[in-house]
Amino acid sequence: MQHSAALAVLDALRANTDAPFERARAMPPELYHSEAFLKLELEHVFAREWYCIGRASALGEPGSYVTCDLAGQPVMVIRDRDGALRAFSNVCLHRMSTLLHGRGRTRSIVCPYHAWTYNLDGSLRGAPAMTLNEGFCKEDYALPSIRCEEWLGWVFITLNREAEPPSVRFAEVESLVAGYDMTNYTESFFEEHVWETNWKVLAENFMESYHLPVCHAGTIGGLSKLEEMVCPPGRPAFNYHTILKDDSLRIAMAHPSNDRLKGDERRTTFLLALYPSLLITLTPGYFWYLSLHPRTPGQVHIRFGGGMSDDYRDDAGAQQNFTALKTLLDAVNVEDRGCTEKVYRGLCSGLARPGHLSHLERPNYDFARYLRARMDAMAA
Ligand code: FES
Ligand SMILES: [Fe+2]
Repeated sequence: MQHSAALAVLDALRANTDAPFERARAMPPELYHSEAFLKLELEHVFAREWYCIGRASALGEPGSYVTCDLAGQPVMVIRDRDGALRAFSNVCLHRMSTLLHGRGRTRSIVCPYHAWTYNLDGSLRGAPAMTLNEGFCKEDYALPSIRCEEWLGWVFITLNREAEPPSVRFAEVESLVAGYDMTNYTESFFEEHVWETNWKVLAENFMESYHLPVCHAGTIGGLSKLEEMVCPPGRPAFNYHTILKDDSLRIAMAHPSNDRLKGDERRTTFLLALYPSLLITLTPGYFWYLSLHPRTPGQVHIRFGGGMSDDYRDDAGAQQNFTALKTLLDAVNVEDRGCTEKVYRGLCSGLARPGHLSHLERPNYDFARYLRARMDAMAA
């Protein structure tokens, strides 16, 4: 039953993405609310691809850690004593409690259940009252490691031993925004949220700026000009679109000391969607991002962070500018939350039908094609 439900949803995705972009429609509703399709996504997308847990600069000191769930696997990412970032299974090797929770800094990893204690390299340092079990030897125990890589300041993990590294997978992104020098952006805020919508509804909301004038009428809508948005065709591993900004927000412009960006680039914002779920707004002066992971069909877990380009580090007014911007971003997010939760409620209804896409929704079409390619790869 479960199996045939998944197959029916896959057929719907294939039929949807067979249409050329010129005739494309939004994805069928069952792709968002079906439990069976979420299971496929966890198995064939989230367990196979790179998931971003945030910025390396946020894990600066030895013992700094962050935790997450990736396709059902609890994971910790921790900076070890030698300064390397490592990821481990966040599951105790005794009776399998999860170990670390949230984010923080620690000298060693102590299980909250019986205090088996691990070093920052995952080896077992000690365990109370285990001397009488003849089979127990602490040297036999080490937390399974998980692949973890840094790329342009982003920290990615994957459960897939064979995945090509982010530097290869996203090589074209690197050249596309080379002048922004993304490594050089420092995170100054990080939050986690859960919204009542499907992860793809939120991802697609990010990928199109068609909704800005209306959904964001109360904040940035008036500044958004549909005719200044450019949506090039997507690539296999990502899509993007760009917006030109005027100088009403100084930190959205290249800093005068930045001689890497020329002409219109100096006021161009890139909206990058790195599949499956890292969504980056990159302006010459600041950035913010969402990294998404589904919890249920109708709930998405969001890692939300941002900060400024180091070009602005010594600029007196910039920090104040950024604080004001964060307040604005929060208001924008309230609007996005309203719109994406409304979409989820709507698409769960019996009379929900996907309509045609605007040319400004080109990235959404490419995202659907990406999902289809992932699913087809698994069927092959
Ligand atoms: S489950 Fe971790 S110490 Fe017992
Ligand atoms: Fe929005």
